[in-house]
Amino acid sequence: MDTTGKGFSTRAIHHGYDAATHQGSLNPPIYLTSTFTFETAEAGGAMFAGEQQGHFYSRVSNPTLDQLEQRIANLEGAEAGLATASGMGAITSVFWTLVASGDEVIIDKTLYGCTFAFLTHGLTKFGVTVVPIDLTNPENLSSAISDRTKVVYFETPANPNNRLVDIAAISQIARAKGAKVVVDNTYATPVLTRPLEHGADIVLHSATKYLGGHGDVVAGLVAGSADDMQQVRLIGLKDMTGAVMSPLTAMLILRGMKTLELRVERHCQTAMRVAEALEAHPAVAHVHYPGLDSFPQRQLARRQMSDFGGMIPFEVVGGKAGGIAVMNRLKLIQRAVSLGDAESLIQHPASMTHSTYTPEERAEHGIAEGLVRLSVGLETADDLIDDLMTALSQHNALAAE
Ligand SMILES: Cc1ncc(COP(=O)(O)O)c(C=O)c1O
Repeated sequence: MDTTGKGFSTRAIHHGYDAATHQGSLNPPIYLTSTFTFETAEAGGAMFAGEQQGHFYSRVSNPTLDQLEQRIANLEGAEAGLATASGMGAITSVFWTLVASGDEVIIDKTLYGCTFAFLTHGLTKFGVTVVPIDLTNPENLSSAISDRTKVVYFETPANPNNRLVDIAAISQIARAKGAKVVVDNTYATPVLTRPLEHGADIVLHSATKYLGGHGDVVAGLVAGSADDMQQVRLIGLKDMTGAVMSPLTAMLILRGMKTLELRVERHCQTAMRVAEALEAHPAVAHVHYPGLDSFPQRQLARRQMSDFGGMIPFEVVGGKAGGIAVMNRLKLIQRAVSLGDAESLIQHPASMTHSTYTPEERAEHGIAEGLVRLSVGLETADDLIDDLMTALSQHNALAAE
Protein backbone atom coordinates (compact mmCIF):
# COMPACT_ATOMS: atom_id res chain seq x y z
CA MET A 1 0.00 0.00 0.00
CA ASP A 2 1.28 3.47 -0.85
CA THR A 3 1.36 5.32 2.47
CA THR A 4 3.22 8.39 1.19
CA GLY A 5 2.01 11.51 2.95
CA LYS A 6 -0.13 9.55 5.42
CA GLY A 7 -0.13 10.05 9.19
CA PHE A 8 1.99 8.16 11.72
CA SER A 9 -0.63 5.62 12.79
CA THR A 10 -1.76 4.95 9.21
CA ARG A 11 1.83 4.15 8.30
CA ALA A 12 2.34 2.11 11.49
CA ILE A 13 -0.66 -0.03 10.53
CA HIS A 14 -0.34 -0.31 6.74
CA HIS A 15 3.11 0.59 5.45
CA GLY A 16 4.76 -2.02 3.23
CA TYR A 17 1.90 -4.53 3.24
CA ASP A 18 -0.56 -5.40 0.50
CA ALA A 19 -3.17 -7.99 1.54
CA ALA A 20 -4.01 -8.66 -2.13
CA THR A 21 -0.61 -10.28 -2.61
CA HIS A 22 -1.19 -12.57 0.40
CA GLN A 23 -4.56 -14.18 -0.41
CA GLY A 24 -6.37 -11.31 1.24
CA SER A 25 -4.90 -12.03 4.68
CA LEU A 26 -5.41 -8.88 6.79
CA ASN A 27 -2.23 -9.60 8.74
CA PRO A 28 1.08 -10.49 7.13
CA PRO A 29 1.78 -14.23 7.12
CA ILE A 30 4.49 -15.52 9.48
CA TYR A 31 7.19 -17.18 7.39
CA LEU A 32 8.30 -19.74 9.94
CA THR A 33 11.20 -21.11 7.96
CA SER A 34 14.94 -21.25 8.48
CA THR A 35 15.83 -21.68 4.82
CA PHE A 36 14.48 -20.95 1.32
CA THR A 37 14.64 -23.19 -1.73
CA PHE A 38 16.51 -22.21 -4.91
CA GLU A 39 14.95 -22.78 -8.30
CA THR A 40 18.40 -23.63 -9.62
CA ALA A 41 21.84 -24.02 -8.07
CA GLU A 42 23.00 -21.05 -10.13
CA ALA A 43 20.24 -18.85 -8.66
CA GLY A 44 21.40 -19.83 -5.15
CA GLY A 45 24.98 -18.95 -6.01
CA ALA A 46 23.89 -15.61 -7.46
CA MET A 47 22.03 -14.76 -4.23
CA PHE A 48 25.07 -15.59 -2.12
CA ALA A 49 27.18 -13.42 -4.41
CA GLY A 50 24.71 -10.55 -3.98
CA GLU A 51 23.96 -10.56 -7.72
CA GLN A 52 20.34 -11.63 -7.32
CA GLN A 53 17.76 -10.45 -4.76
CA GLY A 54 15.86 -12.94 -2.63
CA HIS A 55 15.73 -14.70 0.72
CA PHE A 56 18.00 -17.68 1.17
CA TYR A 57 18.53 -18.14 4.95
CA SER A 58 16.67 -16.56 7.87
CA ARG A 59 19.85 -15.44 9.65
CA VAL A 60 20.28 -13.05 6.72
CA SER A 61 16.68 -12.13 5.85
CA ASN A 62 13.10 -13.35 6.12
CA PRO A 63 9.86 -11.92 4.61
CA THR A 64 8.16 -11.40 8.02
CA LEU A 65 11.20 -9.54 9.35
CA ASP A 66 11.39 -7.66 6.06
CA GLN A 67 7.87 -6.34 6.68
CA LEU A 68 8.83 -5.12 10.15
CA GLU A 69 12.09 -3.61 8.89
CA GLN A 70 10.23 -1.59 6.25
CA ARG A 71 7.83 -0.34 8.89
CA ILE A 72 10.43 0.87 11.41
CA ALA A 73 12.39 2.49 8.56
CA ASN A 74 9.26 4.34 7.49
CA LEU A 75 8.38 5.52 11.00
CA GLU A 76 11.93 6.71 11.73
CA GLY A 77 12.26 8.36 8.29
CA ALA A 78 15.11 6.02 7.27
CA GLU A 79 15.98 4.29 4.00
CA ALA A 80 16.18 0.86 5.60
CA GLY A 81 15.64 -1.07 8.82
CA LEU A 82 16.99 -4.17 10.51
CA ALA A 83 15.40 -6.48 13.07
CA THR A 84 17.47 -8.12 15.82
CA ALA A 85 16.89 -10.59 18.65
CA SER A 86 17.07 -7.93 21.39
CA GLY A 87 18.00 -4.32 22.01
CA MET A 88 21.47 -5.51 23.05
CA GLY A 89 21.58 -7.49 19.78
CA ALA A 90 20.90 -4.24 17.92
CA ILE A 91 23.57 -2.31 19.83
CA THR A 92 26.28 -4.97 19.57
CA SER A 93 25.54 -5.64 15.87
CA VAL A 94 25.94 -1.93 15.11
CA PHE A 95 29.20 -1.55 17.06
CA TRP A 96 30.84 -4.73 15.73
CA THR A 97 30.14 -3.34 12.26
CA LEU A 98 31.29 0.24 12.73
CA VAL A 99 34.46 -0.08 14.82
CA ALA A 100 37.81 -1.88 14.70
CA SER A 101 40.81 -2.12 16.99
CA GLY A 102 42.48 1.29 17.29
CA ASP A 103 39.23 3.24 16.83
CA GLU A 104 37.64 5.48 19.42
CA VAL A 105 34.01 5.73 20.51
CA ILE A 106 32.55 8.64 22.47
CA ILE A 107 29.55 7.82 24.64
CA ASP A 108 27.31 9.85 26.90
CA LYS A 109 27.86 9.32 30.61
CA THR A 110 24.37 7.98 31.23
CA LEU A 111 23.37 4.84 29.37
CA TYR A 112 21.35 1.70 30.08
CA GLY A 113 23.50 -0.50 32.36
CA CYS A 114 24.19 -3.37 29.94
CA THR A 115 25.02 -0.94 27.11
CA PHE A 116 27.50 0.76 29.44
CA ALA A 117 28.97 -2.65 30.38
CA PHE A 118 29.25 -3.79 26.74
CA LEU A 119 31.01 -0.59 25.74
CA THR A 120 33.31 0.03 28.70
CA HIS A 121 34.11 -3.61 29.63
CA GLY A 122 33.41 -5.49 26.39
CA LEU A 123 34.50 -3.38 23.43
CA THR A 124 37.61 -2.11 25.26
CA LYS A 125 38.93 -5.70 25.43
CA PHE A 126 39.32 -5.56 21.65
CA GLY A 127 41.48 -2.45 21.38
CA VAL A 128 38.67 0.10 21.02
CA THR A 129 38.97 3.21 23.19
CA VAL A 130 35.66 4.19 24.79
CA VAL A 131 35.40 7.70 26.21
CA PRO A 132 32.37 8.58 28.39
CA ILE A 133 31.68 12.33 28.47
CA ASP A 134 28.77 14.57 29.38
CA LEU A 135 27.04 15.06 26.02
CA THR A 136 24.35 17.28 27.53
CA ASN A 137 26.88 20.02 26.82
CA PRO A 138 27.83 19.72 23.10
CA GLU A 139 31.01 21.74 23.72
CA ASN A 140 32.37 18.72 25.59
CA LEU A 141 32.17 16.77 22.32
CA SER A 142 34.09 19.49 20.44
CA SER A 143 36.91 19.12 22.97
CA ALA A 144 36.91 15.31 23.09
CA ILE A 145 36.37 14.30 19.43
CA SER A 146 39.41 13.26 17.40
CA ASP A 147 40.26 11.79 13.99
CA ARG A 148 40.07 8.35 15.64
CA THR A 149 36.44 8.87 16.74
CA LYS A 150 34.23 6.57 14.66
CA VAL A 151 30.97 6.65 16.66
CA VAL A 152 29.23 9.07 19.01
CA TYR A 153 26.59 7.19 20.98
CA PHE A 154 23.85 8.31 23.37
CA GLU A 155 20.28 7.84 24.63
CA THR A 156 17.80 10.71 24.80
CA PRO A 157 15.97 10.70 27.18
CA ALA A 158 18.64 8.61 28.91
CA ASN A 159 17.94 5.57 31.04
CA PRO A 160 17.48 5.96 34.01
CA ASN A 161 17.53 9.71 34.77
CA ASN A 162 15.87 11.25 31.66
CA ARG A 163 18.84 13.50 30.80
CA LEU A 164 18.41 14.84 27.27
CA VAL A 165 21.02 15.24 24.54
CA ASP A 166 20.65 17.80 21.74
CA ILE A 167 20.76 15.51 18.69
CA ALA A 168 21.18 18.31 16.11
CA ALA A 169 24.06 20.01 17.95
CA ILE A 170 25.91 16.72 18.57
CA SER A 171 25.36 15.51 14.98
CA GLN A 172 26.77 18.71 13.52
CA ILE A 173 30.01 18.36 15.50
CA ALA A 174 30.33 14.62 14.82
CA ARG A 175 29.60 14.97 11.08
CA ALA A 176 32.34 17.56 10.67
CA LYS A 177 34.81 14.95 11.97
CA GLY A 178 33.35 12.06 9.93
CA ALA A 179 32.06 10.17 13.00
CA LYS A 180 28.69 8.44 12.90
CA VAL A 181 26.00 9.41 15.39
CA VAL A 182 24.05 6.47 16.78
CA VAL A 183 21.03 7.21 18.99
CA ASP A 184 19.17 4.77 21.23
CA ASN A 185 15.58 6.00 20.79
CA THR A 186 13.97 3.38 23.06
CA TYR A 187 12.55 5.93 25.52
CA ALA A 188 11.19 8.51 23.07
CA THR A 189 10.06 6.16 20.26
CA PRO A 190 9.56 7.67 16.77
CA VAL A 191 6.24 9.08 18.03
CA LEU A 192 8.05 11.68 20.18
CA THR A 193 11.47 12.10 18.51
CA ARG A 194 12.91 11.01 15.17
CA PRO A 195 16.70 11.32 15.59
CA LEU A 196 17.49 11.00 11.87
CA GLU A 197 15.48 14.18 11.19
CA HIS A 198 17.85 15.94 13.60
CA GLY A 199 20.97 14.72 11.79
CA ALA A 200 21.79 11.34 13.42
CA ASP A 201 23.02 8.50 11.17
CA ILE A 202 21.60 5.43 12.89
CA VAL A 203 18.71 5.02 15.32
CA LEU A 204 18.13 1.87 17.34
CA HIS A 205 15.62 0.45 19.81
CA SER A 206 15.01 -2.09 22.44
CA ALA A 207 11.71 -3.08 20.76
CA THR A 208 11.09 -5.07 23.95
CA LYS A 209 9.77 -1.79 25.35
CA TYR A 210 7.25 0.63 23.77
CA LEU A 211 7.38 -0.78 20.22
CA GLY A 212 6.29 -4.25 21.37
CA GLY A 213 4.37 -2.58 24.17
CA HIS A 214 2.96 -5.63 25.93
CA GLY A 215 5.86 -7.11 27.89
CA ASP A 216 5.66 -10.42 26.05
CA VAL A 217 8.73 -10.32 23.86
CA VAL A 218 12.44 -9.39 23.73
CA ALA A 219 13.45 -7.69 20.47
CA GLY A 220 15.57 -4.99 18.82
CA LEU A 221 15.35 -2.73 15.77
CA VAL A 222 17.80 -0.53 13.87
CA ALA A 223 17.19 2.05 11.11
CA GLY A 224 19.46 4.17 8.93
CA SER A 225 20.82 4.46 5.39
CA ALA A 226 20.44 1.45 3.08
CA ASP A 227 24.22 1.12 2.95
CA ASP A 228 24.70 1.20 6.74
CA MET A 229 21.88 -1.29 7.27
CA GLN A 230 23.33 -3.66 4.67
CA GLN A 231 26.72 -3.50 6.40
CA VAL A 232 25.19 -4.12 9.84
CA ARG A 233 23.11 -7.00 8.43
CA LEU A 234 26.02 -8.73 6.71
CA ILE A 235 28.76 -8.07 9.28
CA GLY A 236 27.38 -7.31 12.76
CA LEU A 237 24.23 -9.43 12.55
CA LYS A 238 25.04 -12.30 10.19
CA ASP A 239 28.65 -12.97 11.24
CA MET A 240 29.51 -11.22 14.50
CA THR A 241 26.47 -11.72 16.75
CA GLY A 242 23.94 -13.93 14.96
CA ALA A 243 21.37 -12.03 17.06
CA VAL A 244 18.50 -12.71 14.66
CA MET A 245 14.85 -12.03 15.46
CA SER A 246 12.38 -14.91 15.19
CA PRO A 247 9.50 -14.45 12.67
CA LEU A 248 7.04 -15.05 15.54
CA THR A 249 8.61 -12.15 17.44
CA ALA A 250 8.45 -9.97 14.31
CA MET A 251 4.71 -10.58 14.17
CA LEU A 252 4.28 -9.51 17.82
CA ILE A 253 6.25 -6.32 17.23
CA LEU A 254 4.25 -5.55 14.07
CA ARG A 255 1.08 -6.00 16.13
CA GLY A 256 2.37 -3.80 18.93
CA MET A 257 3.43 -1.03 16.58
CA LYS A 258 -0.12 -0.68 15.20
CA THR A 259 -1.13 0.96 18.49
CA LEU A 260 2.18 2.69 19.23
CA GLU A 261 1.01 6.26 18.73
CA LEU A 262 -2.20 5.68 20.67
CA ARG A 263 -0.36 4.06 23.57
CA VAL A 264 2.44 6.64 23.72
CA GLU A 265 -0.10 9.49 23.80
CA ARG A 266 -1.78 7.86 26.79
CA HIS A 267 1.54 7.05 28.51
CA CYS A 268 2.49 10.74 28.18
CA GLN A 269 -0.86 12.11 29.43
CA THR A 270 -0.84 9.87 32.49
CA ALA A 271 2.87 10.42 33.19
CA MET A 272 2.37 14.20 33.26
CA ARG A 273 -0.36 13.84 35.91
CA VAL A 274 1.67 11.33 37.92
CA ALA A 275 4.81 13.53 37.76
CA GLU A 276 2.85 16.55 39.04
CA ALA A 277 1.32 14.53 41.87
CA LEU A 278 4.72 13.14 42.88
CA GLU A 279 6.37 16.56 42.77
CA ALA A 280 3.68 18.02 45.05
CA HIS A 281 4.14 15.29 47.68
CA PRO A 282 6.32 16.23 50.70
CA ALA A 283 7.88 12.74 50.85
CA VAL A 284 9.32 13.19 47.34
CA ALA A 285 12.67 14.98 47.13
CA HIS A 286 13.00 15.22 43.34
CA VAL A 287 11.13 14.28 40.15
CA HIS A 288 13.09 14.21 36.86
CA TYR A 289 10.34 14.55 34.24
CA PRO A 290 10.91 16.61 31.05
CA GLY A 291 7.35 17.99 31.13
CA LEU A 292 7.80 19.66 34.53
CA ASP A 293 8.87 23.30 34.82
CA SER A 294 11.49 22.16 37.33
CA PHE A 295 13.23 20.01 34.66
CA PRO A 296 16.54 21.75 33.85
CA GLN A 297 16.45 20.89 30.12
CA ARG A 298 12.77 21.71 29.58
CA GLN A 299 13.53 23.98 26.60
CA LEU A 300 15.40 21.24 24.77
CA ALA A 301 12.57 18.84 25.66
CA ARG A 302 10.04 21.17 24.04
CA ARG A 303 12.21 21.62 20.94
CA GLN A 304 13.19 17.99 20.40
CA MET A 305 10.23 15.99 21.72
CA SER A 306 6.57 16.28 20.76
CA ASP A 307 5.60 15.14 24.29
CA PHE A 308 7.53 14.04 27.36
CA GLY A 309 7.28 10.28 27.55
CA GLY A 310 6.13 7.73 30.06
CA MET A 311 9.22 7.37 32.24
CA ILE A 312 9.47 9.07 35.65
CA PRO A 313 12.66 8.75 37.69
CA PHE A 314 12.21 10.21 41.17
CA GLU A 315 13.90 10.37 44.54
CA VAL A 316 12.10 9.88 47.82
CA VAL A 317 13.07 11.64 51.05
CA GLY A 318 15.37 9.21 52.89
CA GLY A 319 17.39 8.20 49.81
CA LYS A 320 17.75 4.55 48.85
CA ALA A 321 16.03 3.17 51.98
CA GLY A 322 13.12 5.56 51.44
CA GLY A 323 12.78 4.63 47.76
CA ILE A 324 12.90 0.89 48.44
CA ALA A 325 10.34 1.22 51.25
CA VAL A 326 7.93 3.09 48.96
CA MET A 327 8.43 0.51 46.19
CA ASN A 328 7.58 -2.28 48.61
CA ARG A 329 4.32 -0.61 49.67
CA LEU A 330 2.89 -0.33 46.15
CA LYS A 331 -0.06 -2.58 45.40
CA LEU A 332 -0.97 -1.85 41.78
CA ILE A 333 2.38 -0.77 40.32
CA GLN A 334 4.52 -3.85 39.78
CA ARG A 335 8.12 -4.18 40.97
CA ALA A 336 9.92 -5.20 37.78
CA VAL A 337 12.60 -4.01 35.35
CA SER A 338 11.81 -3.25 31.68
CA LEU A 339 9.49 -0.44 30.60
CA GLY A 340 6.94 0.68 28.06
CA ASP A 341 4.40 -2.00 28.94
CA ALA A 342 0.67 -1.68 29.63
CA GLU A 343 1.47 -2.50 33.28
CA SER A 344 3.16 0.24 35.32
CA LEU A 345 6.57 -1.01 36.48
CA ILE A 346 8.93 0.33 39.11
CA GLN A 347 12.56 -0.56 39.75
CA HIS A 348 15.65 0.68 41.60
CA PRO A 349 18.41 1.37 39.01
CA ALA A 350 21.39 1.36 41.41
CA SER A 351 20.69 -2.23 42.51
CA MET A 352 19.07 -3.43 39.27
CA THR A 353 19.41 -2.06 35.71
CA HIS A 354 22.44 0.11 36.54
CA SER A 355 24.22 -2.25 38.95
CA THR A 356 26.77 -2.71 36.12
CA TYR A 357 28.18 0.71 37.11
CA THR A 358 30.36 0.85 40.23
CA PRO A 359 28.99 3.12 43.01
CA GLU A 360 31.73 5.63 42.09
CA GLU A 361 30.72 5.54 38.41
CA ARG A 362 27.07 6.03 39.34
CA ALA A 363 27.99 9.05 41.45
CA GLU A 364 30.09 10.48 38.65
CA HIS A 365 27.52 9.67 35.95
CA GLY A 366 24.55 11.26 37.69
CA ILE A 367 22.71 8.07 38.72
CA ALA A 368 21.60 8.72 42.31
CA GLU A 369 21.61 5.73 44.68
CA GLY A 370 18.13 6.63 45.86
CA LEU A 371 16.61 7.03 42.39
CA VAL A 372 13.59 4.84 41.63
CA ARG A 373 12.39 4.56 38.05
CA LEU A 374 8.71 4.38 37.26
CA SER A 375 7.47 3.27 33.84
CA VAL A 376 3.95 4.66 33.70
CA GLY A 377 1.63 2.12 32.12
CA LEU A 378 -1.81 2.33 30.60
CA GLU A 379 -3.89 1.81 33.73
CA THR A 380 -6.40 4.48 34.81
CA ALA A 381 -4.36 7.51 35.93
CA ASP A 382 -6.31 8.01 39.18
CA ASP A 383 -5.58 4.43 40.25
CA LEU A 384 -1.84 4.87 39.72
CA ILE A 385 -1.84 8.16 41.63
CA ASP A 386 -3.81 6.56 44.49
CA ASP A 387 -1.32 3.71 44.70
CA LEU A 388 1.66 6.10 44.83
CA MET A 389 0.05 8.57 47.21
CA THR A 390 -0.93 5.79 49.64
CA ALA A 391 2.62 4.39 49.65
CA LEU A 392 4.12 7.88 50.06
CA SER A 393 1.74 8.92 52.86
CA GLN A 394 2.78 5.87 54.89
CA HIS A 395 6.36 6.95 54.26
CA ASN A 396 5.56 10.41 55.58
CA ALA A 397 3.93 9.05 58.70
CA LEU A 398 6.93 6.78 59.43
CA ALA A 399 9.38 9.63 58.84
CA ALA A 400 7.44 11.79 61.30
CA GLU A 401 7.55 9.15 64.09
C1 LIG B 1 17.47 2.31 26.70
C2 LIG B 1 17.70 0.84 26.52
N1 LIG B 1 18.43 0.41 25.48
C3 LIG B 1 18.67 -0.90 25.27
C4 LIG B 1 18.18 -1.86 26.12
C5 LIG B 1 18.48 -3.32 25.88
O1 LIG B 1 17.37 -3.91 25.29
P1 LIG B 1 17.00 -5.47 25.43
O2 LIG B 1 16.68 -5.73 26.86
O3 LIG B 1 15.85 -5.62 24.48
O4 LIG B 1 18.21 -6.24 24.97
C6 LIG B 1 17.40 -1.47 27.21
C7 LIG B 1 16.84 -2.47 28.14
O5 LIG B 1 16.33 -2.16 29.17
C8 LIG B 1 17.16 -0.08 27.41
O6 LIG B 1 16.42 0.37 28.44
